[in-house]
Parts: sequence; C-alpha cells; structure tokens
Amino acid sequence: MIENDFIPLSYKYEKEQGRVQWKAPSNIALVKYWGKKQNQIPANASVSFTLDECRTITSVEFAKLDKVTNEFSFDLLFEGKSREDFKPKIETFFKRIEKYIPFLKSYHFSINTSNTFPHSSGIASSASGMAALSLCLMDIEKQMVSEMDLDFFYKKASFLARLGSGSACRSIKGNLVQWGEHNDIIGSTNLYGIPYPYPVSEVFKSFQDTILLVHKGQKSVSSTVGHNLMHNHPFGQKRFEQAHDNLIRLRSIFAQGNLDDFIEVVESEALTLHAMMMTSIPYFILMKPNTLNIIEKIWEFRRDSKKHLCFTLDAGANVHLLYPNNEKREVNKFIKEELIAYCENGQYICDQIGFGAKKM
Ligand code: PMV
Repeated sequence: MIENDFIPLSYKYEKEQGRVQWKAPSNIALVKYWGKKQNQIPANASVSFTLDECRTITSVEFAKLDKVTNEFSFDLLFEGKSREDFKPKIETFFKRIEKYIPFLKSYHFSINTSNTFPHSSGIASSASGMAALSLCLMDIEKQMVSEMDLDFFYKKASFLARLGSGSACRSIKGNLVQWGEHNDIIGSTNLYGIPYPYPVSEVFKSFQDTILLVHKGQKSVSSTVGHNLMHNHPFGQKRFEQAHDNLIRLRSIFAQGNLDDFIEVVESEALTLHAMMMTSIPYFILMKPNTLNIIEKIWEFRRDSKKHLCFTLDAGANVHLLYPNNEKREVNKFIKEELIAYCENGQYICDQIGFGAKKM
C-alpha cells in the first residue's frame, strides 16, 4: 500500500453526531526505533511486545458543526479534568492526519481519555494514547462509508497512530508487532505496524513484563529531541545496520524459543539505545543510579538461578523486566526481595503480553 491509499475518495453517509470508545495498549520494543526521517518514517525497523494491562481508554463524542471551520474544534478531558496543556499535541496530530481524515474540520470532538497506569509514572502514554484516538477516528470514518474491511481499518488506524507518535503504530494489534521496511520481513512497511509474520514459539506468547518505576518524574530530554540527535550521529549508520541484523537474528530466536539468544539481543538493544543518547552531541543520560543497580542485580540473579529474566529500557529510567510465564514464581520472589527497594516509593506494574486494542 502507499500513503494515498489512505485518502478517502468520498463519504457515503453524513453522521450528525455519535460517540465511540476504544482501549489501546502500550507496547515495549525489543528492537528499538531510535532515529527518524521526515513524516515519521523510521530510520530502522523495530519489533515490540504489545502489553496488556497498561492501556489508554479514549472516548470521542462528535457533533457536526453548522459550517466547516478553518480550525479544529475539540475539547479534551484527561482523567476527568480539562487539560489545555495537552491540546497542542492533538492539534499537531490533527494537522498531520487531516489529509487522510478529511472530516476533521466538520465536527466538534469531545475527547475523554484516561490511562490504566498511574499518571507521571514515567511510562509514556503517547503510544497507547495515539493508538486509542486513531481507532476512535477510524471508527467514525467506518460509519461514513458503506463498507470497510477490517484489514484496512486496522492498517489505517496504525498508519494514523504512527503520525501521532512513531511507536504508537505498534499499539493497535498484538502480540508481537513489526514496523518498518525490512528486506527479510514479508509485508513490512514504514507506513504502519504489522503482526509479526513468522512463527513464534509458545514461550513468547505468555511472556511477562514487570515494569519497575525507578523515576517517575518528567524526562529531561524528550524522544522527539532524541530521535533528531540521530541525524549525523557518529554511530548512527552502524546502529541502523545493527537493528536490521538483530531483526534477522530474532526470526530464528522467535521460532525456536531460544531464550538465551533472546536475552542477548534484547539487553544489547536496550543498552545500545542508551549508548546512542550518551554519544550524541549534546549527550545526555536518562538512566538513574537505580537503573544500573537493578541491571547488576538481574545479571547476578541470572548467573545464580539460571532463570531467563532479562531487562529492557525505554527512553527513560524505568526498567522493564521480561521473563517467561513458567518462571514467574521465582522471578516475582526475587523482584519483591531484591528489586523493589530500587523503585520510587516501591512502585512497580505487573503486565504481560497482550492481544491488541479493543472497541468498548
Ligand atoms: O514513538 P516515540 O517517538 O515516542 O519513540 C519511541 C522510542 C523508544 O520507545 C525509545 C523505542 C521504541 O521503539 O519504542
């Protein structure tokens, strides 16, 4: 598909008003997207586990305006409260997608959104938030055309979400989602995320993700700034090649359920992401001392117990602990006894691999 396939030719039905509601999950990248070209095109392909518990729930009420305006007309409630400071982000998103959702200036939208994870937990809500909003808009569009097949519906939702926040395009479907053109991955595209198209061993289908909240404050450097620092980065090209090669490696790892090699790829990806931050100009560090304390503890635990617990990191200080479901008992004991001490106010979130967004 090409971008123009997402521009609707005409709408058959004019809706006066209505309401739609969707919940969309967060996701955690195994091979990281860091660095982008114009129009939210990733510098390298990535793959992620879709999460289950960490979700955004968004409802959109829409009412036809008397006349089409020059501006977007919407109000926004976040967790029941009006949030003017969130509006510029939605405004930018609407500008980017207007070409593909031409009815945006014909309606007033009341957007009501909330997260299942604590606000300012350091967990980015942009992926689940943009995914949920995109699905709501697609739901409205679906009501205006005579027929829309589900495959197109989800592809376009992912396409729109990508324009809001790159990684959001991986938050529409479960349980393993690939985004970005890659010669060896059939159906892969820069435009939207696709369900991982190759065999995946059962062990990965019930993987656990416990998120340790190390630092709940605002990040000192946003991912937008971080992505931009990959332009002319001294190790940028090598990094993009490495991500490409790691995706090739993962194909047999997923098929065979090879946990030792999985750990090596995933931890290396997390540390490389942060190495890119530390070696850009200007350089910055998003990890905190407790991020490193936790990593050392994980390595020690793995050496002693031979369990398959590993970590990954987002663009922040929090640590995602990934492990197979059948090792949950031992790992949870270890988390409680050894790791909670490093979390801000002892807070952590238990999540697992999930199966994608749902209409409510
Ligand atoms: O989607 P963005 O622009 O917030 O970037 C996300 C970047 C990482 O979370 C660090 C990696 C990824 O692939 O999700």
